[in-house]
Amino acid sequence: MSFDKEERSMWFEELYKENFLKDEHIPWAKMKTNEYLEEYLENNLPNGKALVVGCGLGDDAIALSEAGFDVTAIDISESAIKWCVERFDGFGVDFKVQDIFELPEEMLGRYDFVFESQTIQSLPLVLRDKIITAISSLVSENGKVLVIAHGKNAGEKFTGPPWPLEINEVKLFTMKGFKELEFSIFAEDTALSTLRFRALYQKE
Ligand SMILES: C[S@@+](CC[C@H](N)C(=O)[O-])C[C@H]1O[C@@H](n2cnc3c(N)ncnc32)[C@H](O)[C@@H]1O
Repeated sequence: MSFDKEERSMWFEELYKENFLKDEHIPWAKMKTNEYLEEYLENNLPNGKALVVGCGLGDDAIALSEAGFDVTAIDISESAIKWCVERFDGFGVDFKVQDIFELPEEMLGRYDFVFESQTIQSLPLVLRDKIITAISSLVSENGKVLVIAHGKNAGEKFTGPPWPLEINEVKLFTMKGFKELEFSIFAEDTALSTLRFRALYQKE
């Protein structure tokens, strides 16, 4: 099976476009800050330029901006970005249509803090290493990446999307030049996963 751009991402655009401004039809849209990000921000001081990967409807990007980061937020879906602008015009976040797999040179190594929630898990398994490599390429020297993802134990089966991550898949960041600063595991019992991970890495 091939995973060209159309195949891996067009369903996101179709979903956002067909349901434009009807967030009750977007399964992951909570219209509020991710609770695990919120808790992180209560205990950590923001610093510098942040990039949100697969920003969806933009709440986490706004939370990072309000915490003090200078935020750019990207999503492959034009309709998602249009929706973010509709909701948050004037909030100071730079919302941009951008495929994580086609990053321009000027974005590489530019961000002190990269945030990713639920995008790795939403892409086919064959792209897992590739997206972790792409996310890693955005982070500056000594910069950090915070990952929040649905998780599962080895051997558990879920019919995706999303495809929850196993611990070792999150830890792939340590193979891309990062050291692990935090790895939290929260128990969950939902149709999507049995675990939730929050992991913080720092580029060495
Ligand atoms: C499951 S949603 C999560 C959205 C948001 N991060 C959240 O936690 O609510 C995954 C998001 O990743 C975006 N996405 C998928 N493939 C992408 C790609 N190749 N580059 C950038 N964004 C992508 C989708 O359009 C979608 O908004």
